[in-house]
Amino acid sequence: MPDSRVPRPRRFLVCEPRHFAVQYAINPWMHPDAHVDVDLARDQWAALIGAYRAHGHTVDTVEPVADLPDMVFAANSALVLAGRVFGSYFHAPQRRPESTAYETWFKAAGFDVYRPESVCEGEGDLVPVGRYVLAGTGFRTTPEAHREVQEFFGVPVVSLQLVDPRFYHLDTALFVLDDGPEANIAYYPEAFSPGSREVLARLFPDAVLATREDAFTFGLNSVSDGRHVFIAPRAEALADRLARHGYVPVPVDLSEFHKAGGGIKCCTQEIRS
Ligand code: ARG
Repeated sequence: MPDSRVPRPRRFLVCEPRHFAVQYAINPWMHPDAHVDVDLARDQWAALIGAYRAHGHTVDTVEPVADLPDMVFAANSALVLAGRVFGSYFHAPQRRPESTAYETWFKAAGFDVYRPESVCEGEGDLVPVGRYVLAGTGFRTTPEAHREVQEFFGVPVVSLQLVDPRFYHLDTALFVLDDGPEANIAYYPEAFSPGSREVLARLFPDAVLATREDAFTFGLNSVSDGRHVFIAPRAEALADRLARHGYVPVPVDLSEFHKAGGGIKCCTQEIRS
């Protein structure tokens, strides 16, 4: 374990939760009759952005669109590698217009956007790490989209089968700790099929494993810059483990967004140039 882990500055794209609400149920966390404290949600989101900036990261914002209550979950908009944008095609009809709203931002920012033919929900299910892109399927992004991603980027895509509907996106069950030569991840094994667990154990023998409690408190929906890990405060066991591995947990509470099935990572799209 390195004595001192070195952070790498990131560029993030986020969307202010001006129209955030739980109006429909497309995952088991969502209950349209549950109360969402809109002011608290805005404060929590602002605290996340403040934490990113305080740690030296660049944050761009896309203009939120009325009647797209899940647009705050920027991670679902694309996968961006080496300045190339692989856009999204949402599973739920309610979210499909988000793809165009994000595409407009990317084009204005000087990026071309590839629009996939099969259902693909961006970094929700596509997680680049080391020489691979890990790709989740089972609930949202399809295996056909995994093949499109591999063809588009020319990077090997490792398909992983998600088996628990509460962990419907890969980024609810796994996140990247380190993307450099010592690429490593943290994950919740029970969210994956037996074969996929074996694949993860082979590729990442030193991964940090999360407990059920960590997973259910959105501890795997974290963002790491290689040193600081922006993480849900209730994922205490995981934060302890990360600290023992030389990472610095930065707790940020997005509890209002958990009511929509989202957390820190869901609100954060990384733009890799
Ligand atoms: N309500 C949203 C949905 O079900 C939450 C998306 C969370 N995003 C994520 N990257 N896991 O689509």
